Amino acid sequence: MHTDIEYDPDNYWETRGGPSYKAYTESRDYQIYRGAQAAFFEELLGRLQPQRLLDFGCGSGKSFPLWCDVPEVHGYDRARSQIEVARAEMLRIRPERPYNLMHCLTDSRTEVPYDDDYFDVVAAVEVFLHVLPTELPALLDELNRICRGHLAIITAAPFENRAAHCFNHDYQALLKGRFDIVDDYNLHKQRYIVARKLPLTTRGEQTAPLADLITQ
Ligand SMILES: C[S@@+](CC[C@H](N)C(=O)[O-])C[C@H]1O[C@@H](n2cnc3c(N)ncnc32)[C@H](O)[C@@H]1O
Repeated sequence: MHTDIEYDPDNYWETRGGPSYKAYTESRDYQIYRGAQAAFFEELLGRLQPQRLLDFGCGSGKSFPLWCDVPEVHGYDRARSQIEVARAEMLRIRPERPYNLMHCLTDSRTEVPYDDDYFDVVAAVEVFLHVLPTELPALLDELNRICRGHLAIITAAPFENRAAHCFNHDYQALLKGRFDIVDDYNLHKQRYIVARKLPLTTRGEQTAPLADLITQ
C-alpha cells in the first residue's frame, strides 16, 4: 500500500475520475462486475427486505436500477458533478417514487449527514477502495452510527493502482468492533462483504487503532 500519494478525493471525483476511470468503466471486466453485483444485491435485498437504503458514494447512479424495489432510497456523494448525473438517472429509473439524493461537502469527509440508526442497509459499491487509509476508520464509525441493519461492501479483491488511487484496506480489522462480518468472499476480482451493525455498547476498546491499520 502506498501512503505517499498526492490524492485529493474531492477534486478527483469532481472530475469523474479521469481517463483511467473511463477506461475501467468501458472494460469487459466492468460488465462482468456489474452483472455479479446485480445478482448479489437481488439475493441480499430479497433476504433483508430493507425499508430504507443508502447508496453511499453513489457516484453517477450506476447502481440505482438495483434499488427499484426498496421503498425509501437515498443516494449520497461528495461530488456535485456526480450527483447531477445521478439525479437524471434516478428520474429515468423511478420517477414515480424519487430517490433522495444529497451532494454534501461538509468540512470532514468522514461526516455523513443522516440521523442515527436511519438505514436498514448501507451499500458502498466500489467506494472504500478510494477512501484514504487515514479516513476509513472514522468513516466506518459514521456509517455505524447511521445504520441500524447491514453494511454491504463491494470493493476490489486485493488490488492496488496508484494511477486510479485504489487502496487495499484490511477490512477484517477495520470492521472489528463496528460490524460483524456475515459474508466475505471474492468473485471476479472483487470482494463482497456483508456485515451486521454492532450496537455501540459492544464497541469501545475493540476497534483497531488507526496505527494498526495503515500498512506501508
Ligand atoms: C468509483 S465511484 C463509485 C460510484 C458508484 N458507487 C458506482 O458503483 O458506480 C466512488 C464514489 O465514491 C465517492 N466517495 C468517495 N469518498 C466519499 C466520501 N467520504 N463521502 C461520500 N462519497 C465519497 C466519490 O465521490 C465517487 O463518486
